[in-house]
Amino acid sequence: MRLPAPVTYRLGRDADVDACLGVWRTAVDDYQGRLNQPPLPEETGPLRRQVVHMAATDPDRFWVAEVDRPDEDGRAPWLVGFALATVRGGLWYLAMLFVLPAVQGHGIGAALLDRAQAGRDTPPGGPAIPGPDAALESGIHTWGMATDTAQPISNGLYARRGMPPRLPIWRLVGEPYRWSAVPDLPTSLEAVAFDAMAANGHGGPRLLADAVDGVDREVIGITHQADHEYLRRDGRAGFLVRERGGRVLGYAYGAPSGRIGPVAAVEPDLLPALLGVAIRRTPMLGTVGVWVPASADGAVRALLEAGLRFDRFPGLVCWSRPDLPFARYLPINLAMV
Ligand SMILES: CC(C)(COP(=O)(O)OP(=O)(O)OC[C@H]1O[C@@H](n2cnc3c(N)ncnc32)[C@H](O)[C@@H]1OP(=O)(O)O)[C@@H](O)C(=O)NCCC(=O)NCCS
Repeated sequence: MRLPAPVTYRLGRDADVDACLGVWRTAVDDYQGRLNQPPLPEETGPLRRQVVHMAATDPDRFWVAEVDRPDEDGRAPWLVGFALATVRGGLWYLAMLFVLPAVQGHGIGAALLDRAQAGRDTPPGGPAIPGPDAALESGIHTWGMATDTAQPISNGLYARRGMPPRLPIWRLVGEPYRWSAVPDLPTSLEAVAFDAMAANGHGGPRLLADAVDGVDREVIGITHQADHEYLRRDGRAGFLVRERGGRVLGYAYGAPSGRIGPVAAVEPDLLPALLGVAIRRTPMLGTVGVWVPASADGAVRALLEAGLRFDRFPGLVCWSRPDLPFARYLPINLAMV
């Protein structure tokens, strides 16, 4: 279809979030439906909270595209696409980029991506977009995102900008029944609930933040305290794993809904036991769902052995650098490292 009117771009705001989630749903159901996949679940509460969190931490990386014409409900202008990215340390990460099917293929996705990469408006024909190949004053050294294997358009869009798909990431789902596959910690190690640490006197929160930052720096090369605070606000239970009274070796989160992650292990062999900690100790956890990068092969194997199954098509991690940090790390989900 021809574009019905010129497209304008502006920063997104909280009041746009519901319209953006509408665009996300329509865009995903459109291509998934053509592949005979079921529509997205109706519940969007957790995603909505995550979008609000990311838009709050990175307001200059949340952009919307509008067409000066009423939408189906008579609201003008019509919000037809959006992009949302985060910057944590030197890592730029695209959380979401969606354009309504009716106006795809007209450069709107690319223009939104330009702005989410630049963190500012980019006039047509204006300065080169800071991207993976550019040396940046901003200090960004790594650009990434996770896509759907079933989506050549987005994978092509990112690969042309130097962020090619490099790594499958699987969602594993199910109720564990072979518990030995996600074993108890050896007696030399202990798991401490984040809440217990944070409640421990005035120094507790600082000790917890330092321990988590230390693991993140070592395993993924960045720290992201704002996301850890969001996870805890959102009701995920975190557990720190360390040598008794000694070195911190990793952490794992679980949510009462069954979502596991993020999980970080200084030693990759510890991933199955870290998953065991999250699965055993998260209150009210039943059916488990977790995104696992294929390079965390010990975790993939342990979860399959425990009884979980691969769910739907895998995602793909697109990354500007060939060295990916996911052999020892299971991310929060596809939208946030
Ligand atoms: C992905 C999406 C955001 C792109 O938005 P858009 O406005 O349609 O994209 P644009 O018109 O700006 O650009 C699309 C680019 O993909 C390229 N492309 C299309 N099909 C392709 C293919 N099979 N292989 C490689 N590249 C392809 C086009 O050539 C175009 O680039 P060019 O114009 O520079 O040549 C949009 O199509 C969408 O919402 N899709 C469904 C949901 C989705 O997958 N979102 C991304 C989640 S990570």
